[in-house]
Order: sequence, then structure tokens, then C-alpha cells
Amino acid sequence: MMQSGHIQANHPGIYLDHNASTPLALKAAHMMHGLIDNNYGNPSSGHWASVGAKATLESARSKVANFLGCNSDEVYFTSGGTEANNMAIKGTYYHPAHKGNHIITSAIEHDAIRTALRFVKQQGGQVSILPVDKTGRVDPGAVAKAIRPETILITIMHANNEVGTVQPIAEIANIARAQGIAFHTDAAQSAGKINTNVDELGVDMLSLAGHKMYGPKGIGALYVRRGTKLGPHNHGAGHENGLRAGTESALLTGGFGAACDVADYRHYNQVRDLRDQFWTYLKAAFGEQIYRNGNAEHCVPNTLNVSFVNRVGADLLAALGNVAAATGSACHAGCVDMSPVLIAMRTPMHIGMGAIRFSLGHQNTLEEVQIVVDRLVQQIK
Ligand SMILES: Cc1ncc(COP(=O)(O)O)c(C=O)c1O
Repeated sequence: MMQSGHIQANHPGIYLDHNASTPLALKAAHMMHGLIDNNYGNPSSGHWASVGAKATLESARSKVANFLGCNSDEVYFTSGGTEANNMAIKGTYYHPAHKGNHIITSAIEHDAIRTALRFVKQQGGQVSILPVDKTGRVDPGAVAKAIRPETILITIMHANNEVGTVQPIAEIANIARAQGIAFHTDAAQSAGKINTNVDELGVDMLSLAGHKMYGPKGIGALYVRRGTKLGPHNHGAGHENGLRAGTESALLTGGFGAACDVADYRHYNQVRDLRDQFWTYLKAAFGEQIYRNGNAEHCVPNTLNVSFVNRVGADLLAALGNVAAATGSACHAGCVDMSPVLIAMRTPMHIGMGAIRFSLGHQNTLEEVQIVVDRLVQQIK
């Protein structure tokens, strides 16, 4: 368990949707309480009122850097994971030093990558979308084959938000580095859960989202290795070393820094055990009628994406009462649409439509898991 604890929700519901958002770490909440009354100065001003805000901002930057194993001047604060992804893609695409216009990505990226790349395509860029296997993994060999003389960026997520599959990032990074191509990974779902040391991963850019790792919403960061060719994706004054214009928030960066300070993937062992116990119970109860989506070996420790065969995940979830989780299917006028991630994994319709994503966190208990299993048994049997 994380040493410092977390804010408890004032609600009797069972929260199994930590990939959507996490509660605040107590250390982050305490830090933010302390910052609300003070630190109202603009960190960029040159007078007494900016001193505390500037110090909070830079202390938070060094905590994020410490968490990632990089230098403070390689951390750029953004409004979250979405903006960090946009910054990596557009900041690379529009950089004048790049002569090429080709970007390589995977078929299971988050919308923040997918739609940013759709925009790049509309601007005349070329995008190669690599397929994944049935467990949601990209083949590094396919990345190597997709490289062209005009390739300027490879962007492959670290862990998938729906099924939790972890990609062979270090292997892909070696391929990118050998070709001198910038490599970005979206680590919004892996940070804090598995190792995201940027040198061990070998990435040039990495996106973080504060609210997926027990920090506040509305804050994130892009790690940019020194020497990476990246321009600003928005324009304004020279904040964040000229790469991300907009006055920084001492309140949000301070909370995010505190969350990074207590984040440690080794604290996820208990969550992993609970997730595995959950799957054991479900498999014992449903046998051939349940299927686990994703890659059991290469998976973040908190995510369990299961399909109830020939059922509709959204209907089952609705019948579970106060259980917060997510589905991999959406219903429109009696038709069920599977998520693009499950489609990319070539999941058959009768399995994919019954998908439910349970994403556990540090506060979940065995009792909660048992309640959910019992309710599913009542619904299905
Ligand atoms: C993999 C991934 N990337 C990016 C994001 C977007 O992050 P944010 O909500 O901070 O904009 C999310 C959020 O769901 C995500 O799961």
C-alpha cells in the first residue's frame, strides 16, 4: 500500500474505475490545501509574491523528474495527458528541422493520440497505424519494417487504458534510436504502476496524466529528452522554456509533484494480488462463459478486462448497482458497438460485446471484489 494513504470517497459505492481517474493521494491533498491560501503570485513575475509559487513549481518539477529518472529541465508541465500527447505529436510534426512527415503509431492508442494524428493527416502528414496481436501487443519487427526515410516520429503507448496490455517499449526504443527517429510513449496508464524510468525505457518523450496516478486533474507533463527536436504546439509567452505557453498553476503542479513523490510501482503488489484473486473467483464462477481480454503476462497490475460471452457488458454493469467500472462496448438504438481497441485485437463480437473493464486501486478490498463476483453470479446464473 502507498504509505501516505488516499482521500476516501464519501459514498458507499465500490470504485473499480481507477483507469478513468484515481482519488488524491493524501500527500497531494495536504500539499494542495497548503497552497490554496498562499502562492497566488504568478510564478513568472519578478517580485516577492512570485517567490513561493515559483519555488513550488520548480520543486514539483524536480519531483516529477526524480520519479521519471530524468533532469528537471526535461519536464514540461501540461494540462494533462491529452495535451502532453498533442504536444509531442504536433511539436514534432511542425518542427522546421524535420524534413519528413511520416509518423508510426499503433491501432490501440488513446483518442488523444488517435485524433491528434488524424489532424496531422489532414495537414498533409502520413501516418502508419500498426496492427496488434490478439492480446493487444505491437510487434517490434513491424515497427522496424514501417520506418521510411521520411519517418520523424514513432508513438506507441506504454500500457493500454482498456485492457492494460504493456508494449515492448525498450525494444521499440532501440529500433527508433538506431534509425535516429524520435520515440514517444503515452505513459498515462503505466506511470506509478510499472517502471517508467525514461532511460530504462529508452524513450525520447513520455506523457504523464496527474489524475491517473493519485494526483489532481488538469495537470500532466511531457518528458522531453535533451536534444529532441520539438517546437511549441501552442503560442503565447515563454512559459515552460518556450514549449508550452500558459501561466503554470502552483496548486496543480504542487499536488502532482507530491503524487509523484509517493508513487512507486512496487506498491502495486497488493493490488496485483487482489486483481489476480478477482480473476480466480470469476473464472471459478463462470468457467467457459468468461474470457480475459488482453495479455495476462504483459499487463499493468491493476487492470482486469473480462468478457461475459454472449452478454452485453453495459447491461451487466448497469445491473451491478453502485459498482463503478467501464465497458468495452456501447449500445446505440439496440445495436452494440465494440471498442476500437477490442476490434483491433480481432475480438469476436459475441465476446467483445460482453466486455467490462475493472481497474483496481490501492483502497480496494477483497470484500469488495467478493461482492462484485456475487452480484455477477446473481445476474448471470
Ligand atoms: C492512455 C491515456 N492517454 C491519455 C489520456 C488522457 O489524459 P487526460 O485525461 O489527463 O487528458 C488517458 C485518459 O484516459 C489515457 O488513458
